[in-house]
Amino acid sequence: MLAWEENEVIHIGAEAAVSSGLFLGLPAVRKVRRPRAYRNPKLDQRLTKHRMATEARFLSRLSEYDIPTPKILSFEQSNGVIIQTLMPGIQLVEILRTEGSDNREILTNCGEIIRKLHSLGGVHGDLTTNNIIWDENNGVSLIDFGLSMWTTEIEKLGLDLQVFSECLSASHPEVENALEWVFDGYVGAKDFEYSGSDSPPPPAKDVIERYHLIRSRVRYH
Ligand SMILES: Nc1ncnc2c1ncn2[C@@H]1O[C@H](COP(=O)(O)OP(=O)(O)OP(=O)(O)O)[C@@H](O)[C@H]1O
Ligand SMILES: [Mg+2]
Repeated sequence: MLAWEENEVIHIGAEAAVSSGLFLGLPAVRKVRRPRAYRNPKLDQRLTKHRMATEARFLSRLSEYDIPTPKILSFEQSNGVIIQTLMPGIQLVEILRTEGSDNREILTNCGEIIRKLHSLGGVHGDLTTNNIIWDENNGVSLIDFGLSMWTTEIEKLGLDLQVFSECLSASHPEVENALEWVFDGYVGAKDFEYSGSDSPPPPAKDVIERYHLIRSRVRYH
């Protein structure tokens, strides 16, 4: 039996082609690095290799905690192939455009999971509604950790919220209270106990305050 049994291609993006299938019988996705035609090939390889390694390392360290993100099943850095568990559900971008979905519950749950990650000193780095999955039974999960980092710096945590807020207002302006619901979840989440070597993550309220500061900086410059 082959370790990887491909089912279908689910995404062809600028950097990676993603397919779903089974890895040793387990539902999984396989991301393969794609060369970009318009970029210097050497630089290109370095950048995407770096992102895949970042994702693999980050997810592997996160797997110690009970937080809904994929588990790494296989990583071949030299070929640019990463296999991870499939997170069931539908992308947030689609859910928010579906009539009748419970946006309040879903976005509050997003805020909770983002705060849980932040309380571990983890920053996602690319919080868009494409990189969040919602499932009725499992709630929210986060995917796509190629731009992630470990830090408890308040500016980086605030920026994570800023990126998500930009995405919500640009792509989902019709969901009026979106950010308010995200922040409800963020403030209400139960933090993990931080065991890293940085100073402990700032309280949720302070990160939201920093977010507002970042917003006002963006507005006036
Ligand atoms: N673990 C996973 N479980 C379920 N779906 C996934 C998973 N990983 C990726 N996908 C699906 O594949 C898509 C692309 O994956 P991902 O976001 O990780 O790559 P990407 O780096 O954003 O690709 P690109 O930047 O080239 O568009 C996701 O938006 C999602 O639909
Ligand atoms: Mg993505």
